[in-house]
Amino acid sequence: MPTLKDRGFLHPLASEITPQAAYLRRRELLQGLGLAGAAALLPAAGPALAQRAAPPLPPLPGARSTVPGAIATDKLTDFKDASTYNNFYEFGLDKDDPAKHAHTLKTRPWTVAIEGAVKKPGLLDIEAVLKLAPMEERIYRLRCVEGWSMVIPWVGFSLAELIRRVEPTGNAKFVEFVTLADRAQMPGLRSSVLDWPYVEGLRMDEAMHPLTLLAFGMYGQVLPNQNGAPLRLVVPWKYGFKSGKSLVKIRFVEQQPKSSWEKAAPQEYGFFSNVNPQVDHPRWSQATERRIGEDGLFAKKRPTLLFNGYEPQVGQLYAGMDLRRFF
Ligand code: MTE
Repeated sequence: MPTLKDRGFLHPLASEITPQAAYLRRRELLQGLGLAGAAALLPAAGPALAQRAAPPLPPLPGARSTVPGAIATDKLTDFKDASTYNNFYEFGLDKDDPAKHAHTLKTRPWTVAIEGAVKKPGLLDIEAVLKLAPMEERIYRLRCVEGWSMVIPWVGFSLAELIRRVEPTGNAKFVEFVTLADRAQMPGLRSSVLDWPYVEGLRMDEAMHPLTLLAFGMYGQVLPNQNGAPLRLVVPWKYGFKSGKSLVKIRFVEQQPKSSWEKAAPQEYGFFSNVNPQVDHPRWSQATERRIGEDGLFAKKRPTLLFNGYEPQVGQLYAGMDLRRFF
């Protein structure tokens, strides 16, 4: 198993790109043979996976969000790409591992523990969380620190809806997000690439920002397991790794939490991790990105935007801050 050091979080290695390209070629081939239906049934991992293909995901519609900035007008990434090119290290390090292995994740029963500086701590059942607020559809760009991006129609509601209901006290300065770590369900936990469980954090004002989304679905259906079912965070102006999948605990704390990526490589992954084309990763530039779906080997890269293009909505959260120091 590669270590963090020799692999690096997260170069798009040829071995990561090839299976995707091979998959697309296979699909084209089948379509050319008039077997489009068969192509649709053939998942990225091939026939072995097709045999145990899950039933179609239940619908989860949401009304179009009216939160400013919540509806990007970019072309949507294909569902197939969004659900087969994933980072979910609990299911393996390769891009197609989560789609291959996350069928072992049991998303019911599921609870989310609310802990720390709140007046109403406790265990929330997922069915109760789903009813906290009306579902909205939001179209967000997701920029991964590795240099690729997607545009995904999520379904969920602002994390602020949950936070308000648990009544944080004055001591709640940060929010820590802990995701599931169960060896019985997650083969990737055998790797020591990260200190499990996967932990991420936000400052309280970031967590309360209306764009910070608690997502339960995408493309009008419940989340596929590999995308972080049954609930995940989506913070569209930060690198994708801030958006923890399959959340089991939300803690309200006074001190800035240490995220798993900060622990693994503090000089490479800062607490804020706002998308910023001017602050390079120590080992690669962050100035441009490869939009998944437009990525023929010679396709032109897109310029990366400050705060992933959400500066009008979130820029004021960082007014006066040195973004190089607080990367
Ligand atoms: N959450 C957990 N629990 N484990 C992970 O490995 N990877 C992160 C983030 N959330 C990750 C995670 C990274 S690096 C990215 S880019 C996004 O999930 C990818 O989300 P997607 O697969 O839905 O596009």
